[in-house]
This record gives sequence, C-alpha cells and structure tokens, in this order.
Amino acid sequence: VTTSSDDLRPIRWEEGRLRLLDQTRLPAEERWLEIPDAETMAEAIRSLRVRGAPAIGLAAAYGLAVEAARAVAEGMTGRALAARLDAAGRLLAATRPTARNLFWALEALARERQAWGEAGEDPAALARRFLERALALHRDDLECSAAMAAHGAALLPTGCEVLTHCNTGALATGGGGTALGVVRAAFQAGRISRVWATETRPLLQGARLTTWELDRLGIPHTLIVDSAAAFLMKQGRVEAVLVGADRIAANGDVANKIGTLALAWHARTAGIPFYVVAPLSTFDPALPDGAGIPIEERGVEEVVGWGGVRTAPEGTAVWSPAFDVTPAAYLTAIVTERGVISSVSKKGVARLLDRG
Ligand code: MRU
Repeated sequence: VTTSSDDLRPIRWEEGRLRLLDQTRLPAEERWLEIPDAETMAEAIRSLRVRGAPAIGLAAAYGLAVEAARAVAEGMTGRALAARLDAAGRLLAATRPTARNLFWALEALARERQAWGEAGEDPAALARRFLERALALHRDDLECSAAMAAHGAALLPTGCEVLTHCNTGALATGGGGTALGVVRAAFQAGRISRVWATETRPLLQGARLTTWELDRLGIPHTLIVDSAAAFLMKQGRVEAVLVGADRIAANGDVANKIGTLALAWHARTAGIPFYVVAPLSTFDPALPDGAGIPIEERGVEEVVGWGGVRTAPEGTAVWSPAFDVTPAAYLTAIVTERGVISSVSKKGVARLLDRG
C-alpha cells in the first residue's frame, strides 16, 4: 500500500500489526487502535470506529486475516481451524447488513480459502494468503478511488459549488474516497469552489468527519443541518450533489446514508444533477431492485441523546434506519472505476458490468 504526505488511510498494516483510526473519536482526537482479532474488528465495525462501505469491506478482510494468523500461531489445524475461521467470518458478516462491500470482501477471502484447500498447503500458508488478499484488496481500493475521481471530476463545470452527504472520503475507504474523492480531484482541477456538507444525523459523519477531511485538504466548505439542504438548493447555490453508496441493485436503485433520498428528491425538483460515486464492489447484481436491499436499523440511544445528554423524554419510541433507497430514476449518473453510467437503468448497469 502506497503512502503519501497527505496520506489518510484509516486502516493500516504496519510492522506486522493491524491499526485502525477510531473514527468515533474524531475530530477531537486521532486515536489509533490495534486490532488483534476478528472479534475486536467486528466490534469496531458495529460501533462505527471504522465505517463507510469500502472501508468496512477492507476492515473485515484484515480482521479475518489477523484471526487466521492468530489461530495458526496457537497451533490450530484441520477442523478446529476451519470452525474458528467459519465463526469469525459469520461474526464479521453479521456486523452491518447494508454495505455490499462487506460481503464482497469476505467472499474474496472465502475463494482464497478454497484455493488453499485445493492446493493442499499448510495452515501458515492460509494465514499468508489471507493477509496478501487483504493487502491486494486495499491496493485495488486505492486504484478504484483514483479512477472514480478522474471520471467524476470530468462531469463538473468550472468553479462550481457542490453538496455532499455523510462521509465518503479517505475515512470511508482505504484512503482515497468515493464522492469526496471526486470532490478532491475536482477542487484540484479548479472545478469546485465550495463544498456544502450535511451534518448527517444521527451520528454526524458529515459534521465530524467530512469537515475534518475538507479542512485537511484546504477545500472551502460550509456545514449545514440536514434539513437546510432543500432551502439551499432552492436558492440556486448548489450545482451538483455527490454522494456515495452502500449497495446498488441491478436496476441502479441505490442504498446510501439516511437522508440521501430526500436530497435526490430535492435535487430533481430544483433541476440539479445528482451523482452517485461507488466502486463495482458496491454493486449487487443479484438483487433486481432496491426493494431487496437489507436496511440496517440503529439503536434508540443514537437518536434520543448525544454525548450522554438525553434530548428526548424517557421511553420515546424511535425508528432509526441507517440508510434509505433512492430510485434509479432520480440519478443523473453513477460514477465507477470502470466509467460512468449515464443512463441509470437495468440496461445501463448491465452494460457497464458486462464490460469487465
Ligand atoms: O453509517 P456509515 O457511516 O457507514 O455510512 C456511510 C455511507 O452512507 C457512505 O455514503 C457510503 O458507505 C459510501 S462511502 C464510501
């Protein structure tokens, strides 16, 4: 995995250790955690210490790799090793249901295990294969980000103001970004003059993380509460909306952070282009449309208070979907590493996926 001066990789394999930037502490504190096993990684994913669909996939792959190394170091072989890895895989898969990238990454490791079994290698070789696969997925993710950034930036006019939702930057990926990766490239090319960042309730990924990244990158930005987006768009200040995705169905319906549907709705009313930026690992062609996408529901406590302070009366009923589904018809285009789907439909998606 390459490094650079503005390196913001939130997951790192360094000197034989797996390290993770605890995003729940940002922006107040840059605290790095060491992840020794799959259980610790599963907790980190569940509690959003690492989040964003591509980053969740990488985290799961690395988590299973350290679990395998640990089991092998303990002398595990045969059925005991198999059972341990099955359990770790199940634990990681059960963390967050919506992000397609999570299952995609675990499937890549399952194929590695199959190849190891067929080759008749020793247990240490499996641990090595897992780590190499996780590192390769990480390298690929950085390349995907760079390609998406180039394709997406080309769609924007010079000097425009854009709106983005949640956090889709380096923190949400292996270190590049989806929608925010496009923002970064477009800013460097003089195409963006300002970013409007939504706060993103309930966990404030926009307020805490996107502003933190934009600040580090020196990109002018303004934070708004989620409910200010429609009014802002009506005033004609936003020329494009750019968001990421957690899962994209075969017809182009997109699951993304709760609030995305409202933004797409408003953008359409205001005549503003609405772009989704996501790698192919986010696509789920087995699902015909967005109705089949599992939507994670978060706990009550994230909505009824903040930082230990209660803001709603005791016993208040809460519904907290973490994601919503935006119909394909609301999208101007989907930007992937392979190119842009500019007519978002079953046909448009299939054409791009078949090009591989
Ligand atoms: O709940 P989160 O913070 O994991 O949600 C993240 C998003 O909704 C992102 O938009 C999505 O994962 C794509 S970002 C690379």
